Amino acid sequence: MNSKFKIFVNFAFLLNLIFILSASPGQKENQDLDEKVKKFLKSMKHRWYDMNIPESDGKVLYDIIIKNGYKKVLEVGTSTGHSTIWIAWALSKTGGKLITIEINEMRYKRALENFKEAGLQDYIDARLADAHKLVPELKGPFDFIFIDADKNWYKNYLKLLLPKLEKNGCFTAHNVLNRYMYGIKDFLDYLKDLPYMETTIVRSSRSGISVSYKKYNK
Ligand SMILES: C[S@@+](CC[C@H](N)C(=O)[O-])C[C@H]1O[C@@H](n2cnc3c(N)ncnc32)[C@H](O)[C@@H]1O
Repeated sequence: MNSKFKIFVNFAFLLNLIFILSASPGQKENQDLDEKVKKFLKSMKHRWYDMNIPESDGKVLYDIIIKNGYKKVLEVGTSTGHSTIWIAWALSKTGGKLITIEINEMRYKRALENFKEAGLQDYIDARLADAHKLVPELKGPFDFIFIDADKNWYKNYLKLLLPKLEKNGCFTAHNVLNRYMYGIKDFLDYLKDLPYMETTIVRSSRSGISVSYKKYNK
């Protein structure tokens, strides 16, 4: 190593050290959480077997929440929690929290373990319930909603939740590219005809996600 290069390396090391030491306790906690979530997601990369969304779709949800600073989230269809983890990770940055609903006890329990392992349990209110019964009881309001449960109920979830979605809020649904899945076409046709919802279909995977922003209150 020549001496100029040595000085450069030492300087870079010093800068790095100053950066690390100057991080506030809050920043440090956030960095630690980021590392924990990343480590968990890496360890689970090929181990999501319960109808979980792919990573590319998780990133879409994460980005929408961060971009809009959403804080009040509802998810229907937790399964073992892959999508929930992407949502909760984003909420750890916006300062929000989500309610997520799952009807299957085994998957619900596994999801709880996953949330703990990822370090995100404080951002998640996981409910073991039939969403058909619980959704009408939830007060809201929500600013972000993700539906990934029984497709033949998508339209019902939409109808029930639209009044509880805030203006500028976002309603998303998974698997919308599978138009032959029972209920999906009906759901999309209904959504398309709502003048106050602006919808795009994101083709981040073969499943696709509908992303609908509420432009004004009906
Ligand atoms: C496609 S999986 C969800 C995957 C999850 N979003 C993920 O990425 O990990 C659909 C889940 O919805 C649940 N589900 C179906 N009908 C439901 C209902 N009426 N209430 C609550 N959960 C329901 C199923 O048990 C299943 O675990």
